[in-house]
Amino acid sequence: MVIPTTSSQDLNKANSAAGALAAPFIFRCIGCESITTTAAQDFRCAHCGNLLEIDSSAWKAGGLSPDALKSKWHVRRSSNEPLDLSGVWRYRELLPTPASEDQVVSLREGNAPLYELPRCSRLTGVPRLLAKHQGMNPTGSFKDTGMTVAATFARESGCNWVACASTGNTSASMAAYAARGGMRSLVLVPEGKISWSKLSQALDYGALTCQLRTDFDGCLQLLQELVRQTPVYQLNSINPFRLEGQKTLAFELLEQLEWQPPDHIIVPGGNLGNSSAIGKALLEMLALGLIPRLPKLSVIQAEGANALVRTMHEAGGKQLVKVQAETRATAIRIGNPASWEKAVKVIRATGGTCEQVSEIEMAQAKAEIGAEGIGCEPASAVTLAGLNKLLRQGFVGREETVVLVLTGNLLKDPDFTMEFHKSELFAGTLNQNQDSALASLRHPPVVLDATLNAVMRTLQQAEKA
Ligand code: F0G
Repeated sequence: MVIPTTSSQDLNKANSAAGALAAPFIFRCIGCESITTTAAQDFRCAHCGNLLEIDSSAWKAGGLSPDALKSKWHVRRSSNEPLDLSGVWRYRELLPTPASEDQVVSLREGNAPLYELPRCSRLTGVPRLLAKHQGMNPTGSFKDTGMTVAATFARESGCNWVACASTGNTSASMAAYAARGGMRSLVLVPEGKISWSKLSQALDYGALTCQLRTDFDGCLQLLQELVRQTPVYQLNSINPFRLEGQKTLAFELLEQLEWQPPDHIIVPGGNLGNSSAIGKALLEMLALGLIPRLPKLSVIQAEGANALVRTMHEAGGKQLVKVQAETRATAIRIGNPASWEKAVKVIRATGGTCEQVSEIEMAQAKAEIGAEGIGCEPASAVTLAGLNKLLRQGFVGREETVVLVLTGNLLKDPDFTMEFHKSELFAGTLNQNQDSALASLRHPPVVLDATLNAVMRTLQQAEKA
């Protein structure tokens, strides 16, 4: 097996030949704030070891005014040019761009719908409640918006192998983009702790898939060691190009809202890359004059994987409180989140908060989003459960416009959904109140003899219920 070296020069060589929009990348350490134009394989600061971020101000938004940018992006919505068809690359003035368009690895990601949630609006009493459904991306999760950018730079650097540690969605996305970009992919996932549908995606897209006898945190630690030893290009959200792509969720959302900022954006938190990316985008939009004010950005975690909540509440956001993560929302079963400092910064900068929800609250919220006819995976449903909690606390007012970020598709975790509807989830652990709250949301399948009578009788019973 031959793995070419992916040097920092390789990572940056796009810059010199880049077109009008491209400029040298400036990486800034989020800890000591030192600046570099070359990033090491592990994307960590050479001085203090903290994470790097890309300073996008260097591109000066292609020299365009806020109105000129908005109208350029609007016009691109009716263009059939390959880059314009991507809901990520359409916003390329605010992204790192490769030297040549030919290097872009795209599956027409982004373009994720913004749905109204009339049923949940009634239940929560929040009339302007919206869901930005990132689960409608090509591989079924928000990861695609970051992966298209990072995979593009991986390809441009000439690497053969890309790699990630994952709770499932990153690996599915990385494997797909690697396949499209002609690269090989190595996936490290915790054995028995990711859903079969995510695992099957990685297999189908041709990844070398290793199920490690550890949790996500163990997989990520091992990957960090691997990239220092072997020239594989890391595609976890530690890679700042990933976060640049994930910023476009916020650009697209604001465009869908005709540039009127919502009051509140609520996002699930795991490794905390997505919240960091959304926050970075909001701050950039404010600085560029694309929006007049910042929405609050709040992060919701599962109670059993609440490292950020504990970090903020018990350690004042100053040092990470790691946890041994346990939750049925396997996507966010993470106890040692890499981007915690980035997340703390953007939560504070936007005036948001972080909260935790129980497994039952999450399951109920997931079924309520399902009953809207759109559905999502368990990790995404923490947003609605979190909103309910923030409403009770008075942190969110019912008059506010609230956007829930649904990060993954309903089909990502069918086991959870089936167990819920067949009353197998939480079996024997619910009290009467909890059970009756869930009962009306359960729709178990009915096994019948194949007779007209049997179906008619069942229909009549359902009509009466
Ligand atoms: N929602 C879903 C569906 C996810 O897959 C993830 C993370 C998150 C939320 C949390 O996002 O990590 O940026 O805070 N999944 C990663 C993975 C870790 O490997 O697929 P985050």
